[in-house]
Amino acid sequence: MFRNFKTVERIVFGRGCFNQLNDILAEQRTDRRPCVVFLVDDVFIRHPLKERLPLHDQDLLIWVNVDDEPKTRYVDQLTDQVRRAMADKKMDLPAGVIGIGGGSTMDLSKAVSLMLTNKGSSADYQGWDLIRNPAVYHAAVPTLSGTGAEVSRTTVLTGPQKKLGINSDYTVFDQVVLDPEMIADVPAQQRFYTGMDCYIHCVESLTGTYLNTFSQAYGEKSLELCRKVFLEGGPESDDQLMMASFFGGMSIAYSQVGVCHALSYGLSFVLGVHHGIGNSIVFDYLEEFYPEGVAEFREMLTRQQITLPRGVVADASDEQIEKMVDVALILVPLWENALGEQWERIMTRERIRDLYKRM
Ligand SMILES: NC(=O)c1ccc[n+]([C@@H]2O[C@H](COP(=O)([O-])OP(=O)(O)OC[C@H]3O[C@@H](n4cnc5c(N)ncnc54)[C@H](O)[C@@H]3O)[C@@H](O)[C@H]2O)c1
Ligand SMILES: [Fe+2]
Repeated sequence: MFRNFKTVERIVFGRGCFNQLNDILAEQRTDRRPCVVFLVDDVFIRHPLKERLPLHDQDLLIWVNVDDEPKTRYVDQLTDQVRRAMADKKMDLPAGVIGIGGGSTMDLSKAVSLMLTNKGSSADYQGWDLIRNPAVYHAAVPTLSGTGAEVSRTTVLTGPQKKLGINSDYTVFDQVVLDPEMIADVPAQQRFYTGMDCYIHCVESLTGTYLNTFSQAYGEKSLELCRKVFLEGGPESDDQLMMASFFGGMSIAYSQVGVCHALSYGLSFVLGVHHGIGNSIVFDYLEEFYPEGVAEFREMLTRQQITLPRGVVADASDEQIEKMVDVALILVPLWENALGEQWERIMTRERIRDLYKRM
């Protein structure tokens, strides 16, 4: 069976296109549902962007905090907050939910838009195709590029039991607004780490056993753009990084990620290390799996003057390391993509444990 995958319905791209958001949202507002919910990364509380939000009288602006990556508990709390606000306004649902921020904020807005129309806790839906009802209209304005969250059919959440996405066709954004000016002020380190998420998506997709021409077409273009951004630089860098992220996301949508992401999930679940930096920490130890990718990654580190954190696992207990191994091993499709059907022979618990202990 070939996957019949859903993509983002509408995309606007270009410097300054954020100014069109008001017109875009006007099409969604109705007499019965006039109100739009804006979930905005609280890094912008004192930023000029705040004055540019196309807020109408009835709209709800919620500043979200992403110091921790999104948790199911936080999604449930935000959903309740929106429900209460709608009840106060005598409305059943908002016209839409708009996420403005990086991967974490985009994921929060996907999750809230889903949970407004589906009962229970977001933790109940971590998995594949468990969502029953279509989400409220949802759109994203990325302010950080690399994760591919703007195109993917998942919202990655940490729940009481696991870090796992709500994967469904309903998760996909209805609209994305890709304005390269939005990523202009990202601090260099953050830009690098989130950018490396994209670079690693491409390496893992292009070297994986699941590769096909569709994924290859997007992955190769994305990789080329990453090289321009992180090895050359130049005035088009923000535009290039934004499209690299989008294409990297399209590439893995029809293939899969690999060893680095599997190990990074373990690191993140147990130690709370964020996705981009976690991937970068892990990737530096994966020369045996991705020799060319790792060599080029190190060149990018040097060019961008980034020093990777070391010894992040040094203080972890044996129990914590075992948990990391458990979390990594659950991700069967990632291992299978990276190492083939016989992956269990190659990637034993001992080998994963040894890799973690070196980090
Ligand atoms: N849904 C998916 O397909 C998918 C894929 C990969 C990763 N993810 C998720 O994405 C998250 C990581 O996203 P991320 O790397 O984009 O980072 P992020 O959204 O976690 O943000 C990282 C930091 O950058 C700040 N920031 C964001 N935009 C900024 C700007 N323009 N200027 C200054 N600071 C800014 C944030 O406030 C935060 O402190 C993780 O939670 C991960 O699980 C999701
Ligand atoms: Fe990733």
